[in-house]
Amino acid sequence: MPQTYTAWKSISFVALWFAALAGSLSVVAASETKFVGSQTCNSVSCHGRTEPRRVSGGVNGASLQEFALYERHDPHVKAAKTLASPEFQAIIGKLSERPAGPTRATVYHQCAQCHDPEGMAAEAVPSSAVSHGISCETCHGGGKGWLAQHYERDVSRSSLVALGMRDTKDLHVRGDLCASCHVGGALKNVNHDMLAAGHPPLRFELAAYHRKLTSHDEDGKRSHWNDARERIGTKDLEVKLWEAGQIASAKAALALLESRAHAGASWPEFAEYDCFSCHQRLRPSDGNRRAVAGLPQWGQWNLVFAGPAADSKVLNTLRDEMRQSFASQPHVVKVAASNVRKSLGTSLFLEDATSSQLLKLPAEPSEASKSWEALCQRYLAQRVLEKSIGDEFRKLELAGRISTSDRVSFNKQRGEIDHDLAAVGLQLSFADNKREWPRVLAIPQGIEQVESDLTATAGKLRMLQAFLEPRR
Ligand code: HEC
Ligand code: HEC
Ligand code: HEC
Ligand code: HEC
Repeated sequence: MPQTYTAWKSISFVALWFAALAGSLSVVAASETKFVGSQTCNSVSCHGRTEPRRVSGGVNGASLQEFALYERHDPHVKAAKTLASPEFQAIIGKLSERPAGPTRATVYHQCAQCHDPEGMAAEAVPSSAVSHGISCETCHGGGKGWLAQHYERDVSRSSLVALGMRDTKDLHVRGDLCASCHVGGALKNVNHDMLAAGHPPLRFELAAYHRKLTSHDEDGKRSHWNDARERIGTKDLEVKLWEAGQIASAKAALALLESRAHAGASWPEFAEYDCFSCHQRLRPSDGNRRAVAGLPQWGQWNLVFAGPAADSKVLNTLRDEMRQSFASQPHVVKVAASNVRKSLGTSLFLEDATSSQLLKLPAEPSEASKSWEALCQRYLAQRVLEKSIGDEFRKLELAGRISTSDRVSFNKQRGEIDHDLAAVGLQLSFADNKREWPRVLAIPQGIEQVESDLTATAGKLRMLQAFLEPRR
């Protein structure tokens, strides 16, 4: 990345800017022309088994059942079908049927960046067998370079990565991958026009979404990989995922902001701002809402906790600029966002990311921490803590280091926290699925109430954490 940025100074500025962003930040697009077609992975001797491979040592290694598990249980399988759904087509219709609006094909191309990378690869390589939607190579990287090597005995991960395989085991790489579609980036822009046409707002948190992919529920739903080894081998994996996700989301959101400000055409971009600073006033009929004077606030979803990873001086410059909201100059915003993005490190803590570190991290003290978005992020962080402490307790239990009475008190305490957090979650959720209006905003002093509820659950989480300490 640093080379790319020094290179700009000497050569054609604008063209390189987009090329650099497209090449380095559009994580998924980069490898598309190297696709061989994900069906290639689906042979019975490869990842297409119907029964898991038996491996000595239990949870080690791939099951080789990945294709079937993916097709049966992964939400991304739906992507191909969604392309033809009435909801998807209606959004395209609304965007393209305005006077002087873009054509359906132009709009579809924007959607395809996230919804149809396989189809885009098919366009680039017309002879290949790729179909539509999201599949193996979307996430693991185009297979042309590594397909023939990756099952060889003793082949190293780093050599596969050099051949174009994505190192999904690295949590930061994984976070960047997910955020590239679930937050966005230079060519992946869910803007306010799309939201107004009916696109669901993207509100991503890596650990929560990861849990949705990997949880093994009663129906035997299984992710296509077994994450038991990763969870056992990594202390507080859940917190590490959360940390990687906060940084990846901030990075993606800043790249998105840069490209929005660069394009300039529709600046200010409403999707950058807190939805409810406009939308409460847009719908006065709902009653009982606090009027907010002044300009809409910059949306904080992807930046509430990411502050410590960035240079605080450049972050404050960007915040000041965005606080002026509609008066801010797009080119100034672009430079400021780029400076913050370049300043991002890989860690939010001074030490290894663990639940005790996360327990110490306060939500950033700013007026923005009183927003619905900031409260949602605090809530999600506490869910991460609950899960992580639970995982570590379970490890001690399996090692025979927990007495029956401790198990009973731990589970009781955890149950109480779960109950309290569920109540907070309800306050933060929408009363009506069709209309985004969080319950908490309809209650006088609702925000303050949820803030103090979250302070109370943080205290209980600290007590839960204390169960682990003397036993480690
Ligand atoms: C190529 C873009 C892309 C990438 C990369 C991607 N996703 Fe998705 N994801 C989507 C789209 C699009 C959907 C919606 C699919 C549909 O319903 O048609 C989705 C849906 C999901 C859902 C279901 C959400 C729900 O409301 O039920 C989860 C969970 C999820 N993704 C998690 C992840 C995680 C974790 C990663 C990283 C390992 C990831 N995604 C990577 C595009 C992507
Ligand atoms: C930045 C990437 C991105 C772009 C661009 C994008 N989407 Fe999405 N879209 C997503 C993700 C991610 C989800 C899943 C959101 C979730 O569940 O959290 C989604 C969800 C959806 C859904 C709901 C799917 C379901 O199963 O409920 C529809 C419909 C949809 N998108 C249509 C479109 C259309 C039409 C376009 C183009 C106008 C578009 N999207 C552009 C990323 C994108
Ligand atoms: C939405 C992104 C995504 C898609 C699509 C996807 N994977 Fe994965 N895959 C992951 C992530 C994340 C992991 C977990 C990290 C890891 O072990 O590399 C993983 C793990 C794996 C593993 C386990 C690796 C190991 O060492 O245990 C295999 C094998 C695999 N995937 C194959 C496939 C195949 C085959 C497909 C297509 C049917 C596919 N994946 C589709 C994201 C994806
Ligand atoms: C600066 C003010 C402003 C902000 C901030 C804003 N919107 Fe809007 N929104 C509008 C206006 C004005 C309209 C009506 C015109 C249009 O359709 O673009 C609208 C229309 C909409 C509509 C369709 C009409 C409706 O009320 O159902 C949706 C959905 C929507 N916005 C969602 C969002 C979401 C989600 C966010 C936050 C990411 C957001 N908006 C942020 C001003 C705003």
